[in-house]
Amino acid sequence: MAGVASASASPIPAALSPNPAGRSPPFSLPVAPRARRPVVLVSGRRRFRAEATQREKVRQQETVAEESFPVREAAEGPPEAVALTDDDDWVVRLEQSFNIFLTDFIIAILDLLYRDRDYARFFVLETIARVPYFAFISVLHLYETFGWSRKADYIKVHFAESMNEFHHLLIMEELGGNSEWIDRFLARFSAVFYYFIAVGMYMLSPRMAYHFSECVERHAYSTYDKFLKVNGDQLLKLPAPEAAINYYMNEDLYLFDEFQTSRAPSSRRPKVDNLYDVFVNIRDDEAEHCKTMAACQTPGSIRSPHSTESRTETDVKKSLANED
Ligand SMILES: [Fe+2]
Ligand SMILES: [Fe+2]
Repeated sequence: MAGVASASASPIPAALSPNPAGRSPPFSLPVAPRARRPVVLVSGRRRFRAEATQREKVRQQETVAEESFPVREAAEGPPEAVALTDDDDWVVRLEQSFNIFLTDFIIAILDLLYRDRDYARFFVLETIARVPYFAFISVLHLYETFGWSRKADYIKVHFAESMNEFHHLLIMEELGGNSEWIDRFLARFSAVFYYFIAVGMYMLSPRMAYHFSECVERHAYSTYDKFLKVNGDQLLKLPAPEAAINYYMNEDLYLFDEFQTSRAPSSRRPKVDNLYDVFVNIRDDEAEHCKTMAACQTPGSIRSPHSTESRTETDVKKSLANED
């Protein structure tokens, strides 16, 4: 539920100065070495042909990556709210109306509490951002234990999403968002409360729970996008937090690829040169969450990006029936 608030025009907190006291500079971190182009001794014409082919391959890969990321276009004008579907089913419309009302209500409260404290607000929101994914996993795990359904790909994708939110949280902590006890208390209390709400909603209607998460993730995208536009010049001068460098640059990116269900694995590799890049990456992560939550509202539409099997819900139901 990251970023359920609007970015303020407040200046960057003092704790984020380029060399804040008590913060170790991220430049000393061991960054994974960049892949170097192998040195090959070939004739001039063959080398020219090889380089041209390589350039064409890179261009094609970049084109495919951009085309598979429609939400990136929304950076110029991110949607403020999820529109009601054209679905004729009054139940669907009722669910969506309730979700939009609830999201707007939560946004209003958070705007009131965190008007001028962006990083504290981001910390609170990233703390509870993992909760719906944990709730979805809990329910799916329970159903699988009882033999009612088997959705391994959903569990895998939701776990990857929760780990992504966890790293957003680490970044906000490093930026000082958790320095006040009241923010830590509010975040943790809200997370416990939200867990049971999310479990209940998911059991009642997975479609409704996924739509609520889509509302929240869409607003998260919008929030970070506004924050970047308001504070972009200052963020460009600030160093990236250690947690961001470790997550986006140094760690095994299998789980990072896992939650990006609309693109091929390894097709998105963010850069982390400064704090601006970090917030661009977080914003784009939220866009991926949004797309996945929207897709989840259609049963059987989500598959792990690493999955090679042609597996559908129908197949799974058949396999469970055969086991009986
Ligand atoms: Fe997040
Ligand atoms: Fe998110």
